[in-house]
Amino acid sequence: YSCRNYWVGVQSEPLSELTRDIFWPGTVPDGYLWSTATASYQIEGAWNVDGKGESMWDRFQHNNGRFAGDDACKSYDYYARDVEMSDELGLNAYRFSLSWTRILPDGTVAGGINQAGIDYYNNLINELLINGKTPYVSLYHWDGPQTFQDQFGGWVNEAIVDYFNDYARVCYQAFGDRVKHWATFNEPWSFVVGGYGIAGGAPGIWDANKTEQYKAAHNAIRAHARAWHTYDEEFRADQQGSCGIVIGSLWSEPVDPNNPQDVLGSYLYQQFFMGWFANPIFGNGNYPQEMIDIIAANSQREGWPQSRLPVFTEEEILYNRGTADFVGLNQYSARLIHASNDTSPVDPNGWFNWMSIMIPDLLGYRETIDPSWPQGEMIFLLVTPWCVRRQLDYFRSEYQYEGPFYLTETGISEAEFEQPNFEDIWRTCYYTLYTNEVVKAVELDGVDHRGFFAWTLMDNVEWGSETHERFGLFYTNFSDPARTRTPKDSVASYRDIATTNGFPV
Ligand code: NOJ
Repeated sequence: YSCRNYWVGVQSEPLSELTRDIFWPGTVPDGYLWSTATASYQIEGAWNVDGKGESMWDRFQHNNGRFAGDDACKSYDYYARDVEMSDELGLNAYRFSLSWTRILPDGTVAGGINQAGIDYYNNLINELLINGKTPYVSLYHWDGPQTFQDQFGGWVNEAIVDYFNDYARVCYQAFGDRVKHWATFNEPWSFVVGGYGIAGGAPGIWDANKTEQYKAAHNAIRAHARAWHTYDEEFRADQQGSCGIVIGSLWSEPVDPNNPQDVLGSYLYQQFFMGWFANPIFGNGNYPQEMIDIIAANSQREGWPQSRLPVFTEEEILYNRGTADFVGLNQYSARLIHASNDTSPVDPNGWFNWMSIMIPDLLGYRETIDPSWPQGEMIFLLVTPWCVRRQLDYFRSEYQYEGPFYLTETGISEAEFEQPNFEDIWRTCYYTLYTNEVVKAVELDGVDHRGFFAWTLMDNVEWGSETHERFGLFYTNFSDPARTRTPKDSVASYRDIATTNGFPV
């Protein structure tokens, strides 16, 4: 692997045992899943075709004058090509999401099930199974019904919990004979903060107090728990599958490991990001205690009648706890945290203080990066492969949870070149380093880790950046009505890793 040293020279100093071995020749056992991941809005197109209802993302993009998602990669038409590409990659699994409004156009069962939508996903699932790819299906990758937003405020209203459960039941009924791995949500943090806090995603709400995102998260957690219980009670015995969740994670390290305030800050960072969702589901059933205490204290100081963080009842806490048969972690990157009372948005090395912008309740800490960490096009995703094992290690000890784990997304992007560029050495190196970390997790740390899902199969609609940011293993030609997909060089290298289960000596 000639490129394995590509970034080694710019790795951060080893911070613990876990980074000691930069590259570990070894393999994962047969049966480990090698895959890509995609999402309905980002690839399907056909936004208003064959009865599909309008999603929050359709509306949000249109309101902002963005239309690339209307057709996207046209996977609604070319799904067979997508499966073929997965085959060219030598993969044995395929992660994708269902569009709620393709199946239930106005979001509700009462409004009618759209048979064309069911047929589309049946065709895709059957095509996958014929080709030996295990489907991993997310029910919610952010493109919820616009009708709900218009009628009752979407995720901030508890009414959505019942509707989500109805939708989940329809999916289990229609596809559960063949789909054995369900994730309720993909990265709930991203859509509640993006959509109901900072207006960076659908439905585009800006809330200076950041209370709406807490309400949206509260209902997403309730909806997750409901949909898991529904699977557990009504479908598990017959279908013998599993239901879990995909949580976004950003690893955090103290800037100064000898400064207790920095250490505390990096712990709180875990609580306010991953822990917000992981603690109710994998921990004690409630929000992390630090989150409860800090938000209550801030709310009191600001004169709110009660905490801005909603409260789970005792019954709900019990109901939330343990509602996942697996965890998928989207693991891209890491941050450095230090205690500081500076509240300016940009820190001295030019790094935005995302934390204070998105979660102003986490006062007194700043997040930064090591400027030597390499980065792709997206400035907040830095190349820090060592985050993978540290996060797994932390998850295991924090929640006393021993798996199954999946790395459900990771990847690197480039901006559009004037001419297509297929020589994506950075992606080959990225996947070499990140896949090597899961090999280490299995071989050195004994983690029950079962699959690696590259983000993403082909260049697609990267949300607000539309098609200007390319994360694909395959290059998508968006000027071509047939949306031709062409392998970038990284296809061969990822295939090599997948088909040999890592790095055989
Ligand atoms: C995580 C999200 O799940 C996915 O939709 C997105 O495209 C990637 N991150 C890259 O930003």
